[in-house]
Amino acid sequence: METIHRVIREACKADAEAFLTYLKTIGGESDNLTIDEKGLSFTIEQESEFLDTTAQSHNNLCLLSLEGDTIIGSLSLTAPSRPRVAHCAEMGISVLQAYWGQGVASALMEKMLNWAKNPSTGIRKIELKVRVDNQRAIDLYRRFSFVEEGRVFRMLFIDGQFHDGLSMALLLD
Ligand SMILES: CC(C)(COP(=O)(O)OP(=O)(O)OC[C@H]1O[C@@H](n2cnc3c(N)ncnc32)[C@H](O)[C@@H]1OP(=O)(O)O)[C@@H](O)C(=O)NCCC(=O)NCCS
Repeated sequence: METIHRVIREACKADAEAFLTYLKTIGGESDNLTIDEKGLSFTIEQESEFLDTTAQSHNNLCLLSLEGDTIIGSLSLTAPSRPRVAHCAEMGISVLQAYWGQGVASALMEKMLNWAKNPSTGIRKIELKVRVDNQRAIDLYRRFSFVEEGRVFRMLFIDGQFHDGLSMALLLD
């Protein structure tokens, strides 16, 4: 039987089209993300440029988990360039529903933390917002020692309803 290889690597320009398609799929699968089934409104060229800029940045990261050629998960860290806030990176993570519960998100988190802890990134805090009822994600973040900072009112508006979130953070010291 052929073994399908899973790898985690940084996204590059050439991933733009597949990544935009992936984002539409996960947006349609989950009410826990800020994107819906329409995904992002970027063109392939814009996304390609964005991934290239991210790959060259010292404090931004876009990781892909791939099974063969298929993107099955992704993790992004977005940090500002202004010196007073450049140490705070905002994290986003998603996995295709068919692959949940197989350790894909945990593997992405481990890889991201190894990268972020390198002093050259300057990152000292990773923060995120998660829906209060997204227990699966909250458990994942707690396992990686993230703590709750507070409640985020009306974080999402879906089908006429507001949903509150939690602000969670991990200090890298
Ligand atoms: C939240 C999310 C990222 C978790 O991804 P995941 O790949 O399923 O997470 P993991 O598999 O690493 O860990 C989740 C569970 O699988 C278990 N697990 C880990 N490795 C495993 C393995 N090899 N085999 C079986 N189970 C495993 C973990 O113990 C954990 O158990 P739990 O069910 O008690 O929580 C995913 O559900 C998702 O994308 N959800 C929609 C988007 C979303 O909510 N994103 C976060 C927004 S803040």
